[in-house]
Amino acid sequence: MNNRLTALSGRHVLITGGAGLIGAVIGRMLEAAGAHVTALDNLSSYETMPTLLKADEHESGLRIGDICDEDLVRDLVRDSDYVIHAAAHSTVAGCTRDPETAFHSNVAGVETVLRAVADAGNVRRFLFISSAQVYGHGAAGSDAVQTFTEDQPISPLNVYAAAKAWGEWQTRFLLNAAGVDFTVVRPFSVYGEHQVPKPGAYSWVIAQFAMYAAIGDPLPLNNGGRQVRDFVHVEDAAAGICLALVGEEAGGQIVNLGTGRTTSVRRVAELIQTHFPDAQLCDAPRPAQDPLGGCADINRMSQVLGWEPQISVEAGIARYVDWLRAVPAAIPDWLRTEGDRVASWNTGAVPRI
Ligand SMILES: NC(=O)c1ccc[n+]([C@@H]2O[C@H](COP(=O)([O-])OP(=O)(O)OC[C@H]3O[C@@H](n4cnc5c(N)ncnc54)[C@H](O)[C@@H]3O)[C@@H](O)[C@H]2O)c1
Repeated sequence: MNNRLTALSGRHVLITGGAGLIGAVIGRMLEAAGAHVTALDNLSSYETMPTLLKADEHESGLRIGDICDEDLVRDLVRDSDYVIHAAAHSTVAGCTRDPETAFHSNVAGVETVLRAVADAGNVRRFLFISSAQVYGHGAAGSDAVQTFTEDQPISPLNVYAAAKAWGEWQTRFLLNAAGVDFTVVRPFSVYGEHQVPKPGAYSWVIAQFAMYAAIGDPLPLNNGGRQVRDFVHVEDAAAGICLALVGEEAGGQIVNLGTGRTTSVRRVAELIQTHFPDAQLCDAPRPAQDPLGGCADINRMSQVLGWEPQISVEAGIARYVDWLRAVPAAIPDWLRTEGDRVASWNTGAVPRI
C-alpha cells in the first residue's frame, strides 16, 4: 500500500461500479488504507460470469443498485467524503450495439451522480474515470504509432468514447459551478486477473488470447498483430486512481493513466505462447475501424501523482495466466462456441469514421 493513501484512513469513499474489474481493486486498496468503502453496482457487467468469480469480488459494503436511482445515489453521496465514478457500460462494441444502455449508464447515470455530488456539499473530491478512447485516432489523418497528451484535441470515434468525452466536460461544468474539487483520469488498456472478455467485444486482447490459448484455439493477429496498445495492469490503474483521489496537484486536472510504453498485439501473442507453447498464431486482415494505436504521454501523471506503474506487461501476463489456470471456470461458455472471430471483427458493427 502506498503511504500517501493513509490520508484516506477513516474517510468514507463511494465507488460506483465498485464490483467491476477496476472498482473492486480500488475498493480493496482503499480498505487496506483504512477507508470505509461503499460500492454501488447493478452487477450488469458480468451477467455471464461464473458465480465462482462473483464470490471473489469485492463484497464488503456492496450496495446493489443503479446509478440512475436518484434517491439511492443522493443517500450514498451524502455519506461520502470522496466519490470515484467507475460505473459504465464499459465496452466500445457493447455501447455501439446497445446505445440505449450506453445512454442510461454512461450519460444519465453520470448526470445523476454529478448532480448528487454538486448538491451534497460534503464531497472533498470527485474522480471521474474517463478513457483513452476519447483520443480516437489521435492526430487527424495520421496512421502512425502515437503518444497521446492530455492537452491535445480529443476526437471520440464511437458511442462509448463520446459519452466519456461528455462526462469529462459535464464534470468540469457542474462541479466548477458547485465549487467541488474533481479529477478526471484517462486509463489506457487495463488488463489483469479477473478480467473476463464480454461477448462481441474485441478490446481485451490479453484476456482473450490467454483464454483462446487455454482452450486450444488459434490467436488471430489482425494486421499481423502490428497494432500497439499501452497495457496497464489493473493494480497499477487502481493505484493511480487512488493517488489521483488524494494528490493535491491532481485537483482540477485531466491525467492519463498508462505506462508510456507500447506493446504490439503480436508481442502479446508471443508472451502468451511462452505460457502455452502449443498455441498457434494466425494472420487476419486489419479491420477498418482498428487504429494502429499508441501510448500515454505520462509526464503529467508522473508529475502530479509522483508515481509510475510498477507491473511490466511480461509480469502482468504471467499473473493473468496463473490466475486463469487456477480459475479455469472463468472462461465463458460462449467463448468456446464463438463463430469466426475474424469475420465478427469485420462486420462493421463499430462505425467507420
Ligand atoms: N478496462 C479498461 O481497459 C478501461 C480503460 C479505460 C477506462 N475504463 C473505465 O474504467 C471504469 C471501470 O471499468 P472496468 O474495466 O472495471 O469495467 P467493468 O465493466 O468491470 O466495471 C464497470 C462496473 O459498472 C457497473 N455498472 C454498469 N452500469 C451500471 C449502472 N447503471 N448502475 C450501477 N452500476 C453499473 C457494472 O456492473 C460493472 O461492475 C469504466 O468507467 C470504464 O469505462 C476501463
